[in-house]
Amino acid sequence: RSDLPTYRMTDVQQHNSPEKGVWITYGIGVYDITKFVPQHPGGDKILLGAGSSVDPFWRTYQQHNTKQVLELLETFRIGNLNPEDEVGTKDLDSPWANEPKRHPVLKPAAETPFNAEPPLDILVQKFITPVEFFYVRNHLPVPVIDEKSYELEIEVEGSEKTLTLSLDELKKMPKYSVTAAIQCGGNRRSDMHAVKPVKGLSWGAAAIGNATWSGVRLRDVLKSMGVENDENKHVILEGHDLDPTAAPYAASIPLYKAMDERGDVLLAYEMNGKPLTRDHGYPVRAIVPGVVGSRNVKWLARVVVSDKESDSHWQQKDYKGFSPSTDWDTVDFSKSPAIQNLPVTSAICQPQPGEKVKVVDGFITARGYAWSGGGNKIVRVDITADGGKSWHVAELEQSDAHPGRHYSWTLWTIKIPVEEGKQEVEIWAKAVDSNYNCQPETFENTWNLRGVLSNAYHRVKVSLVR
Ligand code: MTE
Repeated sequence: RSDLPTYRMTDVQQHNSPEKGVWITYGIGVYDITKFVPQHPGGDKILLGAGSSVDPFWRTYQQHNTKQVLELLETFRIGNLNPEDEVGTKDLDSPWANEPKRHPVLKPAAETPFNAEPPLDILVQKFITPVEFFYVRNHLPVPVIDEKSYELEIEVEGSEKTLTLSLDELKKMPKYSVTAAIQCGGNRRSDMHAVKPVKGLSWGAAAIGNATWSGVRLRDVLKSMGVENDENKHVILEGHDLDPTAAPYAASIPLYKAMDERGDVLLAYEMNGKPLTRDHGYPVRAIVPGVVGSRNVKWLARVVVSDKESDSHWQQKDYKGFSPSTDWDTVDFSKSPAIQNLPVTSAICQPQPGEKVKVVDGFITARGYAWSGGGNKIVRVDITADGGKSWHVAELEQSDAHPGRHYSWTLWTIKIPVEEGKQEVEIWAKAVDSNYNCQPETFENTWNLRGVLSNAYHRVKVSLVR
């Protein structure tokens, strides 16, 4: 709402009674609620916050924290509060009070919202990532959802067609499983940041995991509603997690991806054979194989077939790539398409940077993962420990999915010869996918201000012990 005027708290304080008008603030929003005061369901309690911030009251009276209330509030918005005047609510129940417990092995890049990745070396112990070690990327507090009253709404814009499905009803539909890696658009951002600073959470290379997801195919649900493929349309996916202006986390995918039998898009309620955990979208999330993590919307509330993409911040103003010469003064988010299929990538997970690695019969061993978006198979992973003078082809562990449906990651292992007498080597990894696309050599020429699509060769320097 940058189009609205900015007020100081002293301006708000002038409007603290029905006679002088009733202004309140919530977060950094300023609202004139004079007309609403007589209708407030809680009576004149509302005047406790008149001319001031309602944040501490709303943390206490949590019934305000609903989509309807926040949407209603937004209709009274008159401006923005100078951020210096924002009121803290540290001593009160915060919206983060209901966060789930996490395994301590997940290293948080941020606590609220919770964003964390596992140590890289445990990531490649198993082809299917255990849920406890699966990275978590939340933008907002984890919503509290009761599965008994949970309902998923499905709408087709411009038609009367709507469908409301309870979890039980979803579970009665044909069940389908797909093993797919999900990778955050910001995975390996810290490598790009090291070249030149970018804005965003400092992810290492473990913002990726590979799981078996089960649920109902979105195409089956849409077809049951009579939806036909239309290459100009989109499917908007909205979560139950709301920002302070009542806008849900939302994203969209092209309708053709949802309708494609080979697209394998799911309304998933299970991860690795068990109900989804709260962090991973309980009770229902979208799984969009081959597509950037941000479109795999968790805590699904609403699915809308639409002529337009989602207008959410995350679809329009984030998760897009730019030229290395674009900076925050020149960036125009409307000029770049939203990321969908991710490019080919790989990472060395063992050994770790700085590790002392034992040389056995002139060889060292390295392991890692490789993955490519859009269902492309990894056809080769090349490794060098001498700056590219010699490349060695890794052994691959991968699924036997059909061409174009390689949604799982590939794990790789290699024994690399090292020169006698060498004390230190830098291992480089690059993967090649079934389109013969290969990772860029360095970050310099693919750098972008948000640090997304960070897929240059992965490099790990280690010392050698004999
Ligand atoms: N869905 C909702 N509703 N809210 C979110 O914050 N984060 C997205 C996506 N779906 C997000 C969401 C992003 S950016 C990623 S990378 C994936 O969820 C992460 O999924 P995970 O936490 O299960 O690993």
